[in-house]
Amino acid sequence: MLDIENVHISVEDKKIVEGLNLRVGAGEVHMIMGPNGIGKSTLVHMLAGHPFYKVLQGTITFQGKDLLAMTPQKRAHEGLFIGFQHPVEISGMNTFDFLYKVVLMHKPVTRKEFENMLYGAAELVGMNSDCLKRDFNLQFSGGEKKRNELLQLLLVQPKLAVLDEIDSGLDVDAIRALPKIIQKDSQRAYILITHNRLLFEKVLPDFVHIMDQGHIVRTGDIELAEEVFEKGFQPINPE
Ligand SMILES: Nc1ncnc2c1ncn2[C@@H]1O[C@H](COP(=O)(O)OP(=O)(O)OP(=O)(O)O)[C@@H](O)[C@H]1O
Ligand SMILES: [Mg+2]
Repeated sequence: MLDIENVHISVEDKKIVEGLNLRVGAGEVHMIMGPNGIGKSTLVHMLAGHPFYKVLQGTITFQGKDLLAMTPQKRAHEGLFIGFQHPVEISGMNTFDFLYKVVLMHKPVTRKEFENMLYGAAELVGMNSDCLKRDFNLQFSGGEKKRNELLQLLLVQPKLAVLDEIDSGLDVDAIRALPKIIQKDSQRAYILITHNRLLFEKVLPDFVHIMDQGHIVRTGDIELAEEVFEKGFQPINPE
């Protein structure tokens, strides 16, 4: 699904990610954890194709194609979905209309079919229908913004979803409901970035990665995450 090889990323001429390797196969759920400011969101922004995040070196293959040669739009069309740590607010863009346009870019649906999809998905993520009538994310609470990211995930049904701190701002009930939304599927894969123990317990990743010093320093399973929750990042030795 995704093969990141020896990637180096800089932001504003500062090297943030250095020599990062990550392989994600279809059907797998990966979780990445690591200290604040280490470059996790930098990796996410780069995958999205954000122009501020420059790839200095390395290759990224997504479903057999060169991801770095694709525009952000092309990446989305090929099945890459990004849920942002800090979703943007778009003033003047109605949420319902935005979501309808997003779905139309992926498949032809009538307004009625879209409404059925939307209201079913909104119920699953616990999105207040009032929010759908408002400007996109504008003045939404932290949790409402994250529910909006999950709503887009359900509507788009991507091949690979990268969710950056999707849990932050979500209440306990919403985190407990995440396994119904982040469903393991042999055709899809997920990369979740989180600091949240409850998310690990609820979603049960296949692989856990620790990011530090600009790259992934350890890979393991849920036991590695438990070790970090018990002892912190400092005693974790690189492989
Ligand atoms: N556009 C930018 N301009 C300047 N510095 C940036 C920019 N984006 C990121 N950085 C810096 O790069 C470093 C990595 O940031 P990043 O957001 O990737 O961290 P993170 O691992 O996601 O942390 P957290 O766990 O707090 O979300 C930080 O020092 C951050 O201040
Ligand atoms: Mg971050």
